[in-house]
Amino acid sequence: MRYLPIQELEDKMILGQDLFDSEGRMLLAGDEELSSDHIRSLKEMGFHGVYIKDNISADIEFKQLMKPEIRSRALSMVHNLFMGKEEGVIEREQQLMELVVDVVEEILGNGDIMYNMMDLKAYDDYTFYHSVNVAVLSAVIGVRYGMEEEELRILTMAALLHDIGKRFLEDDILNAKRPLREEERHIMLQHPKLGYEFLTKHYNFTPEVATAVLEHHECYNGEGYPMRKSGLEISIFARIIKLADVFDAMTSKRPYRDMLPPSDAIEYIMAMCGSEFDPKLVEVFLKWVAVYPVGCEVVLSDDRHAIVTKNFPNFVLRPVVKLLETGEIINLNQDRDARNITIVRLVV
Ligand SMILES: [Fe+2]
Repeated sequence: MRYLPIQELEDKMILGQDLFDSEGRMLLAGDEELSSDHIRSLKEMGFHGVYIKDNISADIEFKQLMKPEIRSRALSMVHNLFMGKEEGVIEREQQLMELVVDVVEEILGNGDIMYNMMDLKAYDDYTFYHSVNVAVLSAVIGVRYGMEEEELRILTMAALLHDIGKRFLEDDILNAKRPLREEERHIMLQHPKLGYEFLTKHYNFTPEVATAVLEHHECYNGEGYPMRKSGLEISIFARIIKLADVFDAMTSKRPYRDMLPPSDAIEYIMAMCGSEFDPKLVEVFLKWVAVYPVGCEVVLSDDRHAIVTKNFPNFVLRPVVKLLETGEIINLNQDRDARNITIVRLVV
């Protein structure tokens, strides 16, 4: 199985995994043969790319961090939360708690699996996908940081809800394709507070959830908002969500810019270590987030194209790759002959 950017999909290719829309409904089942109609509608829905099965990638197997059905349940719940009315809160609260238990259990059960950011993104529904991605990435960081199960549930819940305050903002501010005017920016900066107020008023989660939502734009050096808290004053949950939020936002396509390659986002995170982000968390992040995810095509420094087949924690820039042309395997981490070869680009 491998990841192919949407523009490279062709008729009759075989889909490698189930596809869901932002409301959690299944669009296409894995193993289905793609038609040009399928490809056209995936483009219209804003998919960047999908996993396909073909000969060159037949031996590339990888486990997804979360079962597609849990991810789709999460998407549908986030969708309801952002669009929904206030009634049915008790039921919704219960469903959210059950979801978070399942997400945490799934990630804890997945041993040394690394976070793969290609696990499905569609920019049209950025807010929903983004909330789910941030929840998964936060939980991965939390697990590697050594959190207990109960803490992981608080973290995952807060991450899922971190931008809930945006449901009160106007669409033309949220999805503006232009830089925001000063007064619009001011409104945008209210969303952590709006989310905090909404959660404390309507929901009965442990108070740490709402606090993390309130603090998710605070910076480690005290230059964030809304309270300019710094260092360990900021809840550990909010410090983790901040990191996951920035990484996922940078690597997602937005109305006003294309997605950035994960290597650029990683460089930014390294540069902002200790200013925007908690250095201890950056360390965990750099070890466990795959810069070049398994199944993705990369360009090597000698211009050859390859598919990533295996990642190593701690050495995320030097995975094992399989050359597209010859099928030759190169272990960038261990092969002596490969010392001079680097990855210059991810094909997305
Ligand atoms: Fe936010």
